[in-house]
Amino acid sequence: MGPFPVDDLRREFPALGQAGDFLFFDNAAGAQIPDTVLAAVTDHLVSRNVQRGGPYGRSQEVDAMIVRARAAVAAFVNAPSATEIAFGLNATSFIRSISLAVGQTLDRRAEIVVSDMDHEANIATWAALERSGARIVWWKVREDGCLSVSDLEGLLSDRTRLVACTMASNATGSLVDVKAVARFAHAHGAEVFLDAVHFAPHGPIDVQGFDCDYLVCSGYKIFAPHMGFAWCRTDAINRLPTFREDFIPDVTPDKLEAGTYVYENVAGMEAVIHYLERLGRRATGESGTDRRTAVRTAMEAIAAHEKTLSAELLDAVESIAGARVLT
Ligand SMILES: Cc1ncc(COP(=O)(O)O)c(C=O)c1O
Repeated sequence: MGPFPVDDLRREFPALGQAGDFLFFDNAAGAQIPDTVLAAVTDHLVSRNVQRGGPYGRSQEVDAMIVRARAAVAAFVNAPSATEIAFGLNATSFIRSISLAVGQTLDRRAEIVVSDMDHEANIATWAALERSGARIVWWKVREDGCLSVSDLEGLLSDRTRLVACTMASNATGSLVDVKAVARFAHAHGAEVFLDAVHFAPHGPIDVQGFDCDYLVCSGYKIFAPHMGFAWCRTDAINRLPTFREDFIPDVTPDKLEAGTYVYENVAGMEAVIHYLERLGRRATGESGTDRRTAVRTAMEAIAAHEKTLSAELLDAVESIAGARVLT
């Protein structure tokens, strides 16, 4: 692609065009939204703002959009099957739903490993299981601000039910070697639950490569409106007693989708993946690049550009008297 096309891309974000001198520098608040995503949300609300599952055309269009959105998000996380994608309100509510279900399956494997580098969403949800007999085992950050998988090894045993950890700290950005986490956890028969919320805007996700069992993410951090999604390995999630209304099938893709969610935001999420595909094909220079490769390439291009921005930022910070940059 050559240099990252910042100016072209900025023009696709109406919020940036009218921001004046306001800087969207609140990382946790999420990303701004490209015009194609806004158009998809509007089109949904104008053309098919009805409930899904009905026997009439507009309702069937909603069903078809959800099927397409699952396939699109499956490409984003490299899921083996689109039916493994569930949509909902946000990452926290998915962590809560899955943890409540896990809490009902505890036997002599009742230990949950939680890291103190995680966001409260991936700590408090699991800690709440202590009321159901779980024992929380803390995986602690080292002096250097990182989680070391060699520390994790000593915490695992045949009593470990699951390891819950983030892919990247939302406070410092430090990364976790999640492949190694899965290798160690699986060697002890435990499952791995990844919080990809903070990592997702900054690099490609590959659930097959990571070999994790569950992964949650927030669409609003990656150019979608406020919504969340989860990927769960089919056999892992279908074994759990998740909550849904009685008329909703007790298997994927419905397994985690209780009630109505915000369909227009799911339509927006589908459009995000199209946006990333276009960016990835621009980077490869080949219009025929397959969807997964295009999305992965887009995320790699974003990550490479961010590296140049953070290098500039760190240089500037280092020049401030008294500031210390920890690398
Ligand atoms: C690492 C991490 N996990 C979880 C969450 C919560 O995500 P959500 O707002 O989708 O519930 C956040 C929110 O900023 C986060 O940074």
